[in-house]
Amino acid sequence: MSEGRLAGKVAIVTGGGSGSGIGATCERLARAGATVVAADINEQTAEATATRIRDAGGRALAVQFDLLDSASIAALAETAMAGFGRIDVLHNNAANTSPQVFPKDQGILDMDSEVWDAVFAANARGTMEVTRAVVPRMIAGGRGGAIINTSSGAGQMGQMAMSVYGPSKGAINAFTRYAALQFAPHRIRCNALVLPVVLTRGLESLFTQEQIDDVVSRTPFKEPTRPADVAAVVEFLASDDARLITGKLWEI
Ligand SMILES: NC(=O)c1ccc[n+]([C@@H]2O[C@H](COP(=O)([O-])OP(=O)(O)OC[C@H]3O[C@@H](n4cnc5c(N)ncnc54)[C@H](O)[C@@H]3O)[C@@H](O)[C@H]2O)c1
Repeated sequence: MSEGRLAGKVAIVTGGGSGSGIGATCERLARAGATVVAADINEQTAEATATRIRDAGGRALAVQFDLLDSASIAALAETAMAGFGRIDVLHNNAANTSPQVFPKDQGILDMDSEVWDAVFAANARGTMEVTRAVVPRMIAGGRGGAIINTSSGAGQMGQMAMSVYGPSKGAINAFTRYAALQFAPHRIRCNALVLPVVLTRGLESLFTQEQIDDVVSRTPFKEPTRPADVAAVVEFLASDDARLITGKLWEI
């Protein structure tokens, strides 16, 4: 695993415990030679990701943190530095996807302000705080860096539900452009993934087969987007092959 286009790079992936979700990126980056920090609120699933990578011959560490807990975010960056000495890649991927919260995120007129705050703070402020903790370490490393933010089509359009999830992802899109501009002098790039419905195991269990068929029928190739398709784009954006690409929203 020391060969590959990410050899020598250290990558933090938040939401890295979701091995059957977009956290599958962890294993893809490891296969490309990166050392991976799988960061998640769920310590067990993060540890499982790191163990799978190590069992396959890669280098990985699991860190428990919470997007809503600033001290844990600072500790995440410190633990990555203590373990591996540098940070080159940050995939800001964790979000409040809680099955307890999602059903409460409906129309604006029914919005509970506590639900708004919980989702917006985790998704938007959390992304900012992880970035704020990591970028000084990237700068200190002197080799630039790559930030990839997981956004959503819900941040680009109006919908009848997901009235805080969507705006929180819209905020991430805007944040991506601000970060790209502010960090360019340090050769740190920042891009966002504007994802469609991605057929993770979590979504497969929530959707009926009819709903999945409907989503798939509206795609150009009549094929579902899967976590592996997202991970391939993350690997590219994390690599030096994308060295001139920054401030872009990637509609996958
Ligand atoms: N699956 C889709 O269709 C889809 C579409 C568009 C965007 N997305 C985005 O992709 C990302 C990953 O989603 P997924 O589908 O893999 O979902 P998922 O629920 O499988 O993964 C989310 C991960 O984030 C972690 N997490 C949740 N709250 C956290 C917190 N407060 N602090 C730290 N970690 C926390 C969870 O434990 C989980 O491992 C999210 O940003 C989501 O909004 C997903």
